[in-house]
Formats: sequence, C-alpha cells, structure tokens
Amino acid sequence: MRDLQERPPASGFSRREFLKGSSAVAAASLATQEAIGQEKEQRAAVTSGWTEITLDVNGVKEKVKVEPRTTLLEVLRYQLDLTGAKPVSLDGSSGCSTVLVDGKPISASTTLAVAVKDKKIRTVESFGGPHPDPVCTAFVEYDAQQCGFCTPGFVVAVRAFLDKNPDATEEEIRSGLNGNLCRCGTYAQIVQAALDVVQSTEQ
Ligand code: FES
Repeated sequence: MRDLQERPPASGFSRREFLKGSSAVAAASLATQEAIGQEKEQRAAVTSGWTEITLDVNGVKEKVKVEPRTTLLEVLRYQLDLTGAKPVSLDGSSGCSTVLVDGKPISASTTLAVAVKDKKIRTVESFGGPHPDPVCTAFVEYDAQQCGFCTPGFVVAVRAFLDKNPDATEEEIRSGLNGNLCRCGTYAQIVQAALDVVQSTEQ
C-alpha cells in the first residue's frame, strides 16, 4: 500500500511547491516595497529644498539657488535682475514673459528653472547693445508700443517667429504672433515692424 504522503495531489501542485511559491512571492513583494521606498527617497532628494543650479543666460553661466517650484521668470527677475520678461499672466496666456530656450519661444512664467538648467536661455536683454537686433530697431521705427509692457515679449516672439519664417507674409505674422497680447492695441504697428524686418532681410 502506498503512503498517503507520496500520493500526488489531485491538482498536480504539492503543498511544498505552494509554500515555496508563497515565499518567493513574499520575497518579491518585499523587494518591490524596498525599491519603492528607495525611489521615494531619491525623488524626495531630487525635488525638495533649495538646490544650486547653473543656468546659461545670454551666454553667461549663472549660479542660482532654486526650489523645485521656482519658475524661470522668478530667477530671471529676482535673482539675475533681468526684468525684461514680465509677470503679467502666471499662466503664460499674455506672452509677456516670452524668452528663448534653445532658440524656441517659451513662457518663463510657466517654466520651472530646474527644467532648463542644461539649455541656452536668451532674454530680451541680449537683443540690445551697440548692435541691436533689427526687430528692436523696427519696433522703435514703427512706434510699435504704448505702455511697453508687452513689448519685450513681443520682440522675442517676433525674433523667434522670423528666424523660423524669414519670408513670412502679413497674414502669417498675425497668426504666428497670436500667443502674445497687447492691451494697448498696437498690433498694427507690431505687424508692420515685423514685416519691415522681413523686407529688409530680403533686400
Ligand atoms: S504697448 Fe501696452 S500692452 Fe502692449
């Protein structure tokens, strides 16, 4: 007569195998918990408190201290004293905080400083100097500002748009600048200034 313990279980799965499997699952779950714990610790280390980062602003390496929530606009205005980009709309809808990051126009009020630490940031302050950008000159020539609050954002946006669309038509310019608002309503002059830059480049 065969011993009961030697009889294979009806399911084909022995108690010993079940216990082995359970321990493996428990060990795996423990490892997963540890991994999650480590990841949380790492994430907390990366995203909390003040951190020193280096930003490349207008060709200058600037060391600044930021929190994870610090916006690029806050760094530019309150740490680097670059006040061209304006805090008009914190959601970026006015376009007044437009700056270039790796040549692309972005809203500095909705961009975290830590997100652009390895990129080239260009603000409107770099458009001046002894050889001002033709966009600045055209804005002056066409009187394309009243209070001037939207002007830095517009100048940067026009430069970014014309770099990408050097032969832009009036209609394309109007459409390309629709992310920037001017409460004084100087759109006609702004578009004329941008058109003038296109035409001067073509000559
Ligand atoms: S010139 Fe005043 S908001 Fe544009």
